[in-house]
Amino acid sequence: MASVNPAQGAGAYISDIDLNTLSAADVALVRESLGEYGVVFFRDQSVSCEQHIKFAQRFGDININRFFKALDKYPQIAEVRKEPEQGSNIGEQWHTDHSYDQVPALGSILVAQQLPVSGGDTIFASMFAAYNALPEPLKKRIAGLTATHSSRHVFGAKVYDKPEHKDLIGRLGNTQAATQDAVHPVVIRHPISGKRGIYVNPDFTTHINELEKEDSDALLDELYTHCKNPEFSHRFEWQEGSVAFWDNRATWHKALNDYPGQRRLMHRITVEGEALYA
Ligand code: SIN
Repeated sequence: MASVNPAQGAGAYISDIDLNTLSAADVALVRESLGEYGVVFFRDQSVSCEQHIKFAQRFGDININRFFKALDKYPQIAEVRKEPEQGSNIGEQWHTDHSYDQVPALGSILVAQQLPVSGGDTIFASMFAAYNALPEPLKKRIAGLTATHSSRHVFGAKVYDKPEHKDLIGRLGNTQAATQDAVHPVVIRHPISGKRGIYVNPDFTTHINELEKEDSDALLDELYTHCKNPEFSHRFEWQEGSVAFWDNRATWHKALNDYPGQRRLMHRITVEGEALYA
């Protein structure tokens, strides 16, 4: 029987489970664990492209990413690739995928394909833990606020004007599709568990709607500094056969770019989500 072991800081490891032969009870366990811990990690799996797709479909419809290069044969699978000669990686800044969509994706399932000899870990931060640890006056200050999120400044054409980002061309693209703006509560109730979590992130959130720019910037800075406290995060070390399934409504993540001269290739499938409420 599958067992769930909470990880230090954020997430949980689920063991004694085969992602290719999930029972209905296993699917329920994974879903509940996402609602409880925000991200789940699996070791020693053997997941082909078809199996990756089938696994994702147990949790919802697949979101075909607008900006990532997909596999030729499987448009449902986005590549997260960095070649030895490339400097930039994908997802280096703290972020929550798809917060620029009014109905943000539930989360993504990342399957390791080719790993550097060392480095290339992903850090996940729990926005449940970050919210719970906020001082009460700050919880009161952010209650009822909303924030705007956008894809324009992250996936739009201007990004590739920066010399350090030129080598992302071909791995990310479709810049004309970067037109999304969305408004969400700053504190949301998780759709599965009802737990409260912080829902702003350094990559996509542009401002808090009810505040002047200066106050909005200051409040976002204060929240980001708080959320980056390593107490709320878990560093996931990838191994052959590792799979991570994160919930965007409960976590931030960042992919470390500390393996120069080596290839790192992951397959990512994103699952559709639902509108978010305070
Ligand atoms: C991502 O942000 O989707 C990529 C995460 C990773 O490569 O570890």
